[in-house]
Amino acid sequence: MSGPNSSYDPVQVTPLGEEQVFAMRDEALAAIEAAADLEALKQVRSDHAGDRSPLGLANREIGALPPQARKDVGMRVGQARGAVNQALAARQEVLEEAAEEQMLLTETVDVTLPWDRRSRGARHPITTMSERIADTFVAMGWEVAEGPLVEAEWLNFDALNLGADHPARTMQDTFWTEPAENHVVLRTHTSPVQARTMLTRTPPIYVVCPGRVFRTDEYDATHSPMFHQVEGLVIDEGITMAHLKGSLDHFAQATFGEGITTRFRPSYFPFTEPSAEVDLICFVCRGSGLNETGDATCRTCRGEGWIEWGGCGVVNPRVLVACGVDPERYTGFAFGMGIDRTLMFRHGVEDLRSFFEGDVRFSRAFGTEI
Ligand code: DAH
Repeated sequence: MSGPNSSYDPVQVTPLGEEQVFAMRDEALAAIEAAADLEALKQVRSDHAGDRSPLGLANREIGALPPQARKDVGMRVGQARGAVNQALAARQEVLEEAAEEQMLLTETVDVTLPWDRRSRGARHPITTMSERIADTFVAMGWEVAEGPLVEAEWLNFDALNLGADHPARTMQDTFWTEPAENHVVLRTHTSPVQARTMLTRTPPIYVVCPGRVFRTDEYDATHSPMFHQVEGLVIDEGITMAHLKGSLDHFAQATFGEGITTRFRPSYFPFTEPSAEVDLICFVCRGSGLNETGDATCRTCRGEGWIEWGGCGVVNPRVLVACGVDPERYTGFAFGMGIDRTLMFRHGVEDLRSFFEGDVRFSRAFGTEI
């Protein structure tokens, strides 16, 4: 390949004979053929087809020739330049194609390679469920109430008609803080939020309160010293057990699907009178107690047809009085459920500890509810 011909003197190329022009052309064609890539071809174009290339300079010289020579040489140089330009265009196309193929080859992504295994975290199912429950009630116009995890003994027990001799107040269930004379506990249920709400707001009150609670339970497949509850409280004029039942049926359907209603069984809680245990009709067997094929017991409710869900009742007038609400004017209802428990039977989680081990694979399996 020849280099740029900057020292080329047009005066010396006369008479631009056939041989000379063909030599220029052939040299150009050889250089084009030899260009290995687009970069090299660019150089070849400037060396052999540019204004200062031998053919370019020859072309410039034509005008200075006598008429007959101008015609002959003009044709010769014109043809030679045409051939060179054609060859350049053809080579350009070939090299562009090759460059594209090369690019596809080097930029290929192997989709079968192992993916980036860095774990990205996940929302905890208890967080998602707590928000879902709050949303269900907020959609009915209720508000979300909160209270501290470290709570006054009076609010956790006394205000709720849990007398000093109530078994729940013994050292067995409750985490007491020191010094004991401060009468401060880790709240054993979300019910003190009821008392706090009544003491700080004036009825009508419609609140729901999801949160953490603590009990001195052994850590095993069904117990944990820290777990989650959701409390509901309504105080208004003319509130009856029927409002409670309707609210819980709605809560059940919003959480477990259409047609999943509740039943009440008589029970006792100091803060409600009358009180009831709430059962949920089994959302898998819908009350039959049998599996899908009908030849064995339903695994979700263990053949009961119903699942124990929580406690509830009409707010005890003694609680209303303790919390500054006029029991002559107002009545109310309250309920409390375990959120962890709800998730356990909703998703078939066998071991409560799965919620507290912090294994992101467990959380991720619940997906993200929006
Ligand atoms: N606080 C109760 C518990 O921890 C649950 C409960 C029962 C809450 C009945 C209520 C209720 O508000 O009315 O077991």
